[in-house]
Amino acid sequence: MRFENIIISREGAVAIVQLNRPKVLNALNALMMAELCEALESLDRDEAFRCLILTGDEKSFAAGADIRELVSIMQKNTVALWARVQIIGKPLIAAVSGYALGGGCELALACDIIVASEDARFGQPEINIGVIPGAGGTQRLARILGKYKTMELVLTGRTITAREALQMGLVNRVVSDGSCLEEARKLAIEISQKPPLAVKLAKEAILKAQECSLKEGIEFERKCFFLLFSSEDQKEGMNAFLEKRKPDFKGR
Ligand code: CAA
Repeated sequence: MRFENIIISREGAVAIVQLNRPKVLNALNALMMAELCEALESLDRDEAFRCLILTGDEKSFAAGADIRELVSIMQKNTVALWARVQIIGKPLIAAVSGYALGGGCELALACDIIVASEDARFGQPEINIGVIPGAGGTQRLARILGKYKTMELVLTGRTITAREALQMGLVNRVVSDGSCLEEARKLAIEISQKPPLAVKLAKEAILKAQECSLKEGIEFERKCFFLLFSSEDQKEGMNAFLEKRKPDFKGR
């Protein structure tokens, strides 16, 4: 895969996708989003990978949608691109240093786990340029933070520190500057050693909770639970426990 605006690297079963437009603090233009979708979908299909990391650079995860391009947004179908990020089946960990603003914050929120550096800054500053979050920000934040904190963030456009984000439940953990990718990598390796089908269905069931009633969610979870009994990894996992050995999961 050859891309202009992202860099992909591989470490065992973990793939790292790095946003790479440093001159504009990784502002997300349509080409970068298209490349990101293509890369994530391809890594999602590739059985060699079990967990994906999305990161930027030390200064910025992503400073939002590219405002130069946003001026003529009506010509670009970026909405469809955002939808594609949200249906990646494998776990996606965001390693966030520096700015995660606007679309950059929304991109981190579309991931499953967020590891932030002390210097990470989150916010939805769209109000300052005459619009509102356009890639799920109002909806995801309201579900995570509740109505009042979301109102404050979106209506003031204020930026919050990694520590504030942690306190609000917006990120999983905050680590010292320069070590968030390493921390994300450790987490990804741990997850990549788990049975992939169970990981996939666990992710699907947890995401389902954000969009359905408790009754529907519990029904969905039960179906996933029983479905996993038809997998080889379920037999391997339970037999390994009983035989007091390490399981060897194959993803089948
Ligand atoms: N789009 C396009 N270019 C951007 C950008 C963006 N979102 N953010 C930064 N840049 C560019 C700047 O224009 C500048 O380019 P030049 O050197 O060519 O002038 C370069 O990146 C460096 O930026 P600054 O000089 O501004 O750096 P700073 O350290 O002084 O400030 C910042 C950093 C606070 C992040 C500031 O750049 C900023 O406020 N950026 C805009 C943030 C924003 O409003 N994001 C929301 C966008 S709308 C959106 O995302 C909609 C949606 O929901 C999908």
